[in-house]
Amino acid sequence: MSNTPHTLPPLPYAEDALDPVISARTVGIHYGKHHKTYVNNLNNLIADTELADLSLQEIITKTAGQASKAGIFNNSAQIWNHTFYWNSLSQKGGGEPPLILKQKIESSFGDLDSCKKELATAAMTQFGSGWAWLVMNGDKLEVAKTANAESPLSMGVKPLLVIDVWEHAYYLDYENRRIEYVNAVIEKLINWGFAEDNLG
Ligand code: FE2
Repeated sequence: MSNTPHTLPPLPYAEDALDPVISARTVGIHYGKHHKTYVNNLNNLIADTELADLSLQEIITKTAGQASKAGIFNNSAQIWNHTFYWNSLSQKGGGEPPLILKQKIESSFGDLDSCKKELATAAMTQFGSGWAWLVMNGDKLEVAKTANAESPLSMGVKPLLVIDVWEHAYYLDYENRRIEYVNAVIEKLINWGFAEDNLG
């Protein structure tokens, strides 16, 4: 059976849609070079192997935690994480979450501000490259952080939204000021509607 190469999913908006919080230049390089490279790398790594015909999620869960498959895990998880990240942002983001999500946030964190603070703290305390997530663990919402390409998919929790805190996500716009990027994303871009859709 011939391989079906993985493809770069389309951005859900124009490259300049998140400007000025995230510039078109940052999105262009982040999506068009970083995200695309993960797709190219994965296709090269799995060509003619037993993983070639699996879905992206199957590849991620099959290779998680296997040292000999680290390259395949890293590239496949980074494709998934980045697609999820683009959808976690919107030019109409920020503000109040939709009602069902808001109620879940209030029952899990007390109030929206506490949820946002916990998310910002996770994003700030992730040492080096990684991700800050809002996840659903059973019936409760939680904040999680992961290093490098790791994702909550292999932790038994359901991801709702994510913030990329690799330097390539913010360095052109904010240099070393990760906190400014994180706060601006949470206040102005975070797509609470996407998170609510992911409650399932
Ligand atoms: Fe990234």
